Amino acid sequence: MQPAMMLFSSRYWSRRGMSLDSAMLEQRGQGQPQRHTGGQMSRRSSFCPINEHPEKENAVESGQTAVVFSLKDEVGCLVKALRIFQEKHVNLNHIESRKSKRVAREVEIYADCSCSKKEFNDLLQHLKDHVNIISYNTPAQLWSTEAGRPLSRYPAGRLDDEDVPWFPMKICDLDQCSKRVLMYGSELDADHPGFKDNVYRQRRKYFVEVAMDYKSGQPIPRVEYTQEEIKTWGVVFRELTKLYPTHACREYLKNLPLLTKFCGYREDNIPQLEDVSVFLRERSGFTVRPVAGYLSPRDFLAGLAYRVFNCTQYIRHSVDPLYTPEPDTCHELLGHVPLLADPKFAQFSQEIGLASLGASDEDVQKLATCYFFTIEFGLCKQDGQLRAYGAGLLSSIGELRHALSDKARVKMFDPRTTCNQECLITTFQEVYFVSESFEEAKEKMRDFAKTIKRPFSVYYNPYTQSIDLLKDTRSIEDVVQDLRSDLTTVCDALGKMNTYLGI
Ligand SMILES: [Fe+2]
Repeated sequence: MQPAMMLFSSRYWSRRGMSLDSAMLEQRGQGQPQRHTGGQMSRRSSFCPINEHPEKENAVESGQTAVVFSLKDEVGCLVKALRIFQEKHVNLNHIESRKSKRVAREVEIYADCSCSKKEFNDLLQHLKDHVNIISYNTPAQLWSTEAGRPLSRYPAGRLDDEDVPWFPMKICDLDQCSKRVLMYGSELDADHPGFKDNVYRQRRKYFVEVAMDYKSGQPIPRVEYTQEEIKTWGVVFRELTKLYPTHACREYLKNLPLLTKFCGYREDNIPQLEDVSVFLRERSGFTVRPVAGYLSPRDFLAGLAYRVFNCTQYIRHSVDPLYTPEPDTCHELLGHVPLLADPKFAQFSQEIGLASLGASDEDVQKLATCYFFTIEFGLCKQDGQLRAYGAGLLSSIGELRHALSDKARVKMFDPRTTCNQECLITTFQEVYFVSESFEEAKEKMRDFAKTIKRPFSVYYNPYTQSIDLLKDTRSIEDVVQDLRSDLTTVCDALGKMNTYLGI
């Protein structure tokens, strides 16, 4: 098994998610550096459930919800798991099992149950110590529906391949993806700095509710941040902005002052996601949306296909502003947002997302690794010097210094080899990948995407904010018509230029 694949099969990833942003224990006087997480994308392979019944999104509130978990395919394992449901007085309405497509000799269980939200959370807390939870908030009757494969999930009659995993066909479908969190942001691990802080935990619950209530196209609710949160943000902002002039890439340095001007990026102010979203939309077509916790790589990358970035809105615990074991809004706003405003970077990000739609689990993991070593930890060359563009680096004082020092190993970015590199979470990366430009990285990703096995190509239609599947001559003709129209405009412009220049 390749190292990367081992990581993906570890339960650790399902808890910790993919990540970046880092904590420097060495700066905290504790010896070895320790990385903490940054991205909302879990390294765990995705289950990718399908919500065929949007009206049931909040089923957990009304007493009905479901969980999917996997366990070893051995006699007695299921009985042990079901005993936990009994101990927690959770009624099972419906249960299904199937062989895991991800891990050999494991079986996946879909359990549809009736209980209160509190009882369900309690059940999850106990269940996760015994089984590998793949997803929850899972739509009821998911597998039964999947077995029937209703084509209504896709444009009728256009896609009937049994092996193509579900993916969002229009931007509002992201409401389903963004709510399939693998772990709520309010459920903190015992080693989390805020674990024993009830006030902090309550605050995190508030952010979970904001994200879970959010729907595509709505304005993002404005948050009134506390003085404590602003102070924590201020420390991170002050320390990082000292490093940017010598460490951040040109595009980052160009956009940061604009964010200060239009979105209030200041030491004494935490920018609002809504303002950031408007800013990005006007510059690169990207938008952000609040997310409650870690998403599977498949769901996270699907957002990028629509130029939608899932963003956390909460601030790390104040006990140590330079440490967070998970992504927070400091990481998003300082690490990701300035680059997402760059059109070429935005296009590169979207390429990774588009390549993931309908791809196999194995290919999604490869793309997730490419994402990790570019959008999170990428380096580029500018004026003969290395500069950082990865959000994990740009939101971590320790690793930003390290990645650009003589101690770091650097290789050229090549998706064919980068996709097999091990992603490290608790230490600095063993190697960083450098690109000459976003344009070059995008072309390489585009070539790599051709190796992904899909019975169709995808085309993002910006007018309808939906995906067109290119799988027959007619659908391709439709796109060619659009391109022809664009080319006519370009030719017209060239003609006018020639006339003006007298050529
Ligand atoms: Fe991130």
